[in-house]
Amino acid sequence: MHIKIHEIGGYAVRNYLLETPDGIIAIDTGYAGQFPAFRAKFERLWPLSELRHIFLTHHHDDHSGFLGELMASTDAKVILHPLAVEYLKTGQSHEKPGAGYSSFTASLFSLVKKDFSFPPVSLPPERAIIVETEDDQPFEELGLPFRILHLPGHTDDSIGLFLPQTGELFCGDAAMNAVISKARHTIWIEDVAEFHRSWDKMLSLDPGKIYPSHGNPFPPKDLSRYRHYLDCKTLIPGIKRRN
Ligand SMILES: [Fe+2]
Repeated sequence: MHIKIHEIGGYAVRNYLLETPDGIIAIDTGYAGQFPAFRAKFERLWPLSELRHIFLTHHHDDHSGFLGELMASTDAKVILHPLAVEYLKTGQSHEKPGAGYSSFTASLFSLVKKDFSFPPVSLPPERAIIVETEDDQPFEELGLPFRILHLPGHTDDSIGLFLPQTGELFCGDAAMNAVISKARHTIWIEDVAEFHRSWDKMLSLDPGKIYPSHGNPFPPKDLSRYRHYLDCKTLIPGIKRRN
């Protein structure tokens, strides 16, 4: 089955659209206020009604900011972790005790960004496809060759999408390749052990290419190479967090 990946940019979060025989899947949204730009870029490719699914890698403000607007403008269903359903209702990026920045450079982010709120979203049951465990594979049920992974560590509601046919893996913020991040580590991490277990899980699938939500795609060997970056280091608490 041919799946075409369209990268349409995005402000902060890189928007990917997957063109499938069952319509378009959007990986995440973006900051609140970015919907008109997203819509314009989407409609250069297809009518917005072609959007069937929104795969939400996690609830953070930069990923869910215009989720409500996008849902109101389409019939698309949202595929997400059960915890994300609850966090979306609050309109605040959830913060777990013990979380922190993965490097000093990353911690500087807390000086420039202090508001992590987003328009709250209450998902009607008919618009939500909840991935309780990895036994739930709604894309496979639709005949699409996509495997959903639970990838906690950055947040406890983080999920990713693996395309076994091509080895492409969309990891959300389970890894990062942005200028401000170091060693492919996401700048904000809730649980280092879980974060690295998620890296091990990704590596075990022998992917060909990792597509993070921030920064360019990178080869999976980078995960092996940088796996020990946080050994003997501790997370740095922010004034008020993450990305
Ligand atoms: Fe995030």
